[in-house]
Amino acid sequence: MKKFARIIALVMAVALMATLFASCKKEDNVLKMGTNAAFPPYEYYEGDKIVGIDAEIGALIAKKLDMELEIVDMDFNGIIAAVQNGSIDMGMAGMTKDPDREKSVNFSTSYATGVQVVIVKEGSAIKSIDDLKGKKIGVQEATTGDSYATSDFGEEAVKRYVNGAAAVQDLQNGSIDAVIIDNEPAKAFVAANEGLTILETEYTVEEYAIAVSKDDPELLEKINKAIAELKEEGKIDEIINKYIPAE
Ligand code: ARG
Repeated sequence: MKKFARIIALVMAVALMATLFASCKKEDNVLKMGTNAAFPPYEYYEGDKIVGIDAEIGALIAKKLDMELEIVDMDFNGIIAAVQNGSIDMGMAGMTKDPDREKSVNFSTSYATGVQVVIVKEGSAIKSIDDLKGKKIGVQEATTGDSYATSDFGEEAVKRYVNGAAAVQDLQNGSIDAVIIDNEPAKAFVAANEGLTILETEYTVEEYAIAVSKDDPELLEKINKAIAELKEEGKIDEIINKYIPAE
């Protein structure tokens, strides 16, 4: 009888270990962040490495979650769907928290602010938002710049590009008249290209946040907690100030 009990205990111990081992393996420790790494200073390539504000904040969030960050580069247009179908755990791409997207995904608390601005050629006749009427406007596809431009100036006015750099290139060679894009990438593109300038008038102010599947409220909660802690520790400001030195 004693021997029988010992065997049972042994079998149970082995079964327990097997279960623990299996659950460890299943719960892979990688936090997959989907982004579009053509958006300096939030995400861009330095050699073959993706760096920037989002890459660094993402890494700190993963660390707080005891996970390892894996950054997946994709078209901006595909990020929301990738969050929805679970091929990435979070979308972090200088992405604006916006009511339309909130129908498809949940957003974390905001970690940064963005402003939509207008880039034109130096000496352009376009001096204000109103002057954009009847002009050809370049945007990155599926961005808020795209939706503002489309709703304010009409489908025919808008030319969509896979990234901001391609739009800026077309602005430079004269095939479009303006580009609507977030202010920090705008500054980076203007700095990297001759003869461009940003209009003084700001188009809209937005909040950047992380997109998480509606099926994973637990992850959202953990991310929000991590963001709150990082804010409190001054880490978010530190990273933003590193990439965006105060003028
Ligand atoms: N803030 C804008 C939006 O959410 C543009 C973001 C583009 N981000 C990028 N990584 N290309 O629509």
